[in-house]
Amino acid sequence: MKIHLAPMEGLTDFHMRDVLTRIGGYDACVTEFIRVTDRLLPARTFLQACPELRNGARTRAGTPVQLQLLGSEPAVLAENAALAAALGAPSIDLNFGCPAKTVNRHRGGAVLLDEPETLHAIVAAVRRALPAAVPVTAKMRLGVRDRLRMLENAQGIEAAGAAALVVHARTREDGYRPPAHWEAIADIRAAVRLPVMANGEIWTVDDARRCQAASGCDDLMLGRGAVTLPALARQIRGEAFHPGWPELLGWQRDFLRALELAGQPAEDERLGAVWSERGAIGRYKQWLAMLVRDWPEARELFGRVKKLQRFEEMKRALAVGPVSADTPLVANA
Ligand SMILES: Cc1cc2nc3c(=O)[nH]c(=O)nc-3n(C[C@H](O)[C@H](O)[C@H](O)COP(=O)(O)O)c2cc1C
Repeated sequence: MKIHLAPMEGLTDFHMRDVLTRIGGYDACVTEFIRVTDRLLPARTFLQACPELRNGARTRAGTPVQLQLLGSEPAVLAENAALAAALGAPSIDLNFGCPAKTVNRHRGGAVLLDEPETLHAIVAAVRRALPAAVPVTAKMRLGVRDRLRMLENAQGIEAAGAAALVVHARTREDGYRPPAHWEAIADIRAAVRLPVMANGEIWTVDDARRCQAASGCDDLMLGRGAVTLPALARQIRGEAFHPGWPELLGWQRDFLRALELAGQPAEDERLGAVWSERGAIGRYKQWLAMLVRDWPEARELFGRVKKLQRFEEMKRALAVGPVSADTPLVANA
């Protein structure tokens, strides 16, 4: 069984990948999507989205990071994929699942599921542009409004040379509304030979087992459930690992420290260039807001910090100790 941490724009950034992969249980994680429009992006865009490229494309826990691209122009995606590989990306994942209106308006993400030829052309062009040792993978939804083209899309992705496929078991129209239709993944599995990984609505160990049974997939990708229950991957692996709120609070402090450190120019100028105190605190609040789902303590904490805009105030609220460059991250992992 393989377990991957899902790409989630605004959520599973470098710092979240660091915290969650240190807590453990993941075979790989994926960057938030990098949007490719009509030109070759500068190297710094890849390094900002995937600072792990400076660390052999691994998180500090040693977990490999795949780099995800989103776009609709095969030749431009291919060019960008080649640059990402030259910068050290061990594999390139293509996003055919994003439902966001702004992205879809520009023919990126899930809307491409209505254009199987484009999907095929993108995967084929990216495959051709990459060294043989760098696999291309894809992440798709079941369709735009229905599943009519789901098998055609999956087979096209395979025929174009993809090495693996993640299926988020909902259509674009379904958005993020439960349920996820895991049984549809079984139909896709039966229609292709490449490894298929199941994704969608896995919040508990029981969900994981039911998803595996319905989809026939051993391999799982965890999205929001990984963020609300950071021990989930290890629990799915059968470990008796049940951290409580004190441990979770410790991980949140580590995360907050890391976000603050990223804003100190000495840490990394190129990361610092995109850093703002408000934005960084927003990232933490996003996590805390999601923790409310499973943790009553998070609701209380969120009520206390939701209006705070400064690190000094946030650290007081979470009783964070002084920050120094030597502060270990996730000390209690
Ligand atoms: C806030 C958010 C951002 C996301 N960003 C991406 C992304 O950048 N790339 C991608 O392929 N999927 C993205 N997704 C989809 C997730 O990877 C995943 O497929 C989806 O959340 C279903 O899994 P889950 O039910 O376990 O969360 C995003 C989902 C959320 C909630």
